[in-house]
Amino acid sequence: MTVWEVTVDLAVVGTGVAGLTAALRAAEFGLRVVAVTKTTVEDGNTRCAQGGIAVVLPGDQAPHGDSVDAHVVDTLTAGAGLCDEAAVRTILAAGPAAVNELRTHGAVFDGGWPDVHRTREGGHRAYRVIHAGGDATGAEIERALAGAARSRQLVLLEGQSVSEVLRDETGRVAGLALLDEQGGGVLRARAVLLATGGLGQLYAASTNADVATGDGVALALRAGALTADLEFVQFHPTALYLGAGSRGRQPLVTEAIRGEGAVLLDIAGDPVMTGVHPLGGLAPRDVVAAAITRRMAATGTDHVLLDATHLGSAQLRRRFPTVHAACASIGVDPACEPIPVAPAAHYQCGGVVTDTSGRTTVPGLYAAGEVARTGLHGANRLASNSLLEGLVMGRRAAEAVAADFPVSRCAGPPLPSHEVRPVADRDALQQAMSAHAGIGRDSAGLAAAAAVAGATTRRRIRTPHDAEDAGLTLAAAAVLAAAATRTESRGCHLRTDHPRPAKRWRRSIAVVLDDNGTPVPAEPALIGGVA
Ligand code: SIN
Repeated sequence: MTVWEVTVDLAVVGTGVAGLTAALRAAEFGLRVVAVTKTTVEDGNTRCAQGGIAVVLPGDQAPHGDSVDAHVVDTLTAGAGLCDEAAVRTILAAGPAAVNELRTHGAVFDGGWPDVHRTREGGHRAYRVIHAGGDATGAEIERALAGAARSRQLVLLEGQSVSEVLRDETGRVAGLALLDEQGGGVLRARAVLLATGGLGQLYAASTNADVATGDGVALALRAGALTADLEFVQFHPTALYLGAGSRGRQPLVTEAIRGEGAVLLDIAGDPVMTGVHPLGGLAPRDVVAAAITRRMAATGTDHVLLDATHLGSAQLRRRFPTVHAACASIGVDPACEPIPVAPAAHYQCGGVVTDTSGRTTVPGLYAAGEVARTGLHGANRLASNSLLEGLVMGRRAAEAVAADFPVSRCAGPPLPSHEVRPVADRDALQQAMSAHAGIGRDSAGLAAAAAVAGATTRRRIRTPHDAEDAGLTLAAAAVLAAAATRTESRGCHLRTDHPRPAKRWRRSIAVVLDDNGTPVPAEPALIGGVA
């Protein structure tokens, strides 16, 4: 067991948009910061983001006719009654400053500044999504932030998995238990920021990178933190269809293509979204994914078609190079034929409960980005609000750590305590989650999936893979506990046995660990701003 001699002020877990933004900001405050990633800095989920950053920039009132208030309304509408309006307002209003900060790190947006190009995505009633590299916004953000981190010589610990957030005898965060292929180690830290991203890999097919295994939710639950809104797993309506039963990461076909006129058709060539929603193919994502799922069931197929042929070859290659290349890799020319697409697990709308400064319910533990539940997304995230949230909340979490720092102390690091953990079979779990905890859930299916998540063996956590498996198992059980409790349909939680929203469920469901380490619903009154 290696115990690092230095006690850092802040250990950031995850090096995506929120993690690197936080680490850079913390360094500006003179904090000793280390950013830890289980892979490499460039290998996270941020680089998979295509569409862009939803932001109302100064000057957008005219000629674009937009406003932060209008963005707030669209976010609340998509969130289906569960957003925390105060959180929505403060996060969206902080967008322009966060984007400017990103530009100072070298990010370049399409169209040039200030005449940056704006597009639309599902649920947005205005053209307010800025993008980079056509459909490679996440890659550009990752490039800029990683470049800034390296040029400022931030300490980046790559290839280190976190198996536990360590706490001292008072319950305050004291560091991290780390694992790599050679063994374990302890990093002492006065504060820990979870910026681990989402949990798409809980499902058999997901748009997420392989790293998105729900680590942060599991770490936070084990550290005693409150989580909420976990049942709201957003399915992206249009992942590239790779064939029947395709597993693992599915290439994304950005919603921005629909923003630029592409149309969803069923296998017989009939429009999918006609008469479904006033915004048609640009309805909020939950509505589109559900409509596709219904149409696939009605036509007995496992995919639909996205017709983008009107854009033509040159425009598709220039504006959507990532999508074009993914289509080419399966022999589809989107200029000449419709793109086969199907919904796939995409985004965790809930997560570790934080205030709008990134503080969790555990002293010294902070969370930002997809892993956190700030109240911005409610029951269904508005497209492209997540990169914005990562930028704003990464920055704020670092500022909160700096503000809290004078009162924080750090006792000696306890040794990792939970080296044996329950682990379910990953493959069986992913299949069960896709079969029973996707779009269209019912109590029998959720119970069947919970049985798979509960069919665990106790495994000594010796390798990063063991730690991931244990995290996946716990995160799945937590999602299932929340989904079984919510006996209604709302946002991306669609239950076939409770098909309508119920007034009494217009509140968040919090999940904590009980004394046996089982995720259970907690008192809703514990969640600030919502209950
Ligand atoms: C997309 O480009 O369609 C995805 C953007 C997002 O998930 O916000």
